[in-house]
Amino acid sequence: MGRTVICPGSFDPVTRGHLDIIDRATKMFDHVIVAVLCNLSKKPTFTIEERIDFITRAVQSAEIKNVEVVGFEGLLADYARERNATALVKGLRAVSDFEYEFQMALTNKKLNPELETVFLTTNQQYMFLSSSIVKQIASLGGDISGFVPECIHDDICKRLTNK
Ligand code: PNS
Repeated sequence: MGRTVICPGSFDPVTRGHLDIIDRATKMFDHVIVAVLCNLSKKPTFTIEERIDFITRAVQSAEIKNVEVVGFEGLLADYARERNATALVKGLRAVSDFEYEFQMALTNKKLNPELETVFLTTNQQYMFLSSSIVKQIASLGGDISGFVPECIHDDICKRLTNK
């Protein structure tokens, strides 16, 4: 059995930046679980079904192999143990991400000492990108075609503009 890692997140919605990290994780590890957080305290814009569907379609369309997309609830450290995952793989964009990500990595290590957190530096092209920026631009009628995978672009726009 090869190494399993988890790419966790809210993915509300998945962006090209997320997809780039997922793709690169599949090149480093044998099996990548994209774990979508169900019980977000910050109310997500997209339902868990929509978020899972968007990632599944984006991964298929980009022909990224060895990926499983699932929803999860509760502690990530417990879910990782349940799935025998070696590590969490996360994208790190800028200094602003660092403090929160560092705190989460240390907390997860405390909760599950077997679990590592691996940070991949984001692709320069996606340095500025975030789900909330994408939602803001789309809801104001801006062009998000460079920011989200092409195959889900229209569905995201439709939902955000109510058209
Ligand atoms: O995409 P996000 O919103 O930055 O992802 C955050 C996520 C899902 C990785 C984080 O909120 C999380 O792990 N939530 C699960 C609950 C948990 O384990 N909390 C303790 C981790 S410090």
